[in-house]
Amino acid sequence: MLNRNRNGNKQNGQAKQKLDLRGKNAPAYLEPDTLLGRNALFQVEKMIAGGGFGQIYKAINLETDEEVAVKVERASTNDSQRMILESKVLDEMLGTKHFPNVYYIGPHKNCNFIVMQMLGRNLGDIRKVLPHKKMSISSSVRIGIQIVEALSLLHTKGWLHRDLKPTNCCLGLDEKRRQVYLVDFGMSRRFRNDDGSNREVRHYCGFRGTTRYCSYRMHDRREQGPVDDLWCLYYTLAELVEGYLPWRDMESVDEMAQAKKIIKHDMIFPSMPSKFASFDRNLRRLRQHSTPDYVKFQNILASCVKYVDDNAEFEWDILGV
Ligand SMILES: Nc1ncnc2c1ncn2[C@@H]1O[C@H](COP(=O)(O)OP(=O)(O)O)[C@@H](O)[C@H]1O
Ligand SMILES: [Mg+2]
Repeated sequence: MLNRNRNGNKQNGQAKQKLDLRGKNAPAYLEPDTLLGRNALFQVEKMIAGGGFGQIYKAINLETDEEVAVKVERASTNDSQRMILESKVLDEMLGTKHFPNVYYIGPHKNCNFIVMQMLGRNLGDIRKVLPHKKMSISSSVRIGIQIVEALSLLHTKGWLHRDLKPTNCCLGLDEKRRQVYLVDFGMSRRFRNDDGSNREVRHYCGFRGTTRYCSYRMHDRREQGPVDDLWCLYYTLAELVEGYLPWRDMESVDEMAQAKKIIKHDMIFPSMPSKFASFDRNLRRLRQHSTPDYVKFQNILASCVKYVDDNAEFEWDILGV
């Protein structure tokens, strides 16, 4: 039986009230023409996006005329650690495929900011403008394979993302328009120590992530591992290719957690070829500290299409939406 206890939402509700004063719902943190960075190199133009926490601005590198993105968060909130964490992850991933380049990190008035590579739209926004609000299987497979690669790179450095979802995956611009980038490392956590050993597992963890996409393990407040990022990818792909997740209309978090435990793969991915079921089977075999066989997950994705053509244009570029 699905548990309809609405109290499961209490934490979310309270969190939302606070969130409303931040990110895209807050007044603009930066004025147009603000100069940021060493030698006032970056000139802010305008806000282009916002999430639950941060605001993203377009800015210009005055030396090269190159467009850059500036992520800004308020330093005074309890979450000021988010930006420090985020800059640490991005710094460690510098020069790695699937992660935006970082050009400058610093404080500005009562904010912290990161100047980074300008990216294109996120996958959530792209899905919403597509016919039937769905991506094709071939695009979803290509994107899935790239995100598995991105996660393997991140995990190899000892980091978990912990909030993978369509809006935290962007495509690049121009010649990088077919490349997926991960963004938003404000919920990241190290799962390995510097010497390569695993960090001690906590018996109870505070909720991190987004309820719609997180693994059932996170609902149980268990310590996350690489497997949980792959669960987020699994649900992200389901939403991209099907246009919805079975729990989209459920209001209670408890109900959603229960749904993730009992709803079978075929109900989550009715359109994907049946070969894709082994993605779910392989995920269920992984433990918190298991190192996933990333290539196997990529091969399962690839087996769902005749061939993977990374040079083909995505349907949104062909349709011009
Ligand atoms: N480097 C970037 N270039 C262009 N858009 C970006 C960039 N980084 C983030 N965005 C956009 O801004 C949105 C919010 O950024 P994000 O880092 O996810 O902030 P939050 O922590 O508030 O969710 C993303 O969903 C994405 O669409
Ligand atoms: Mg985000």
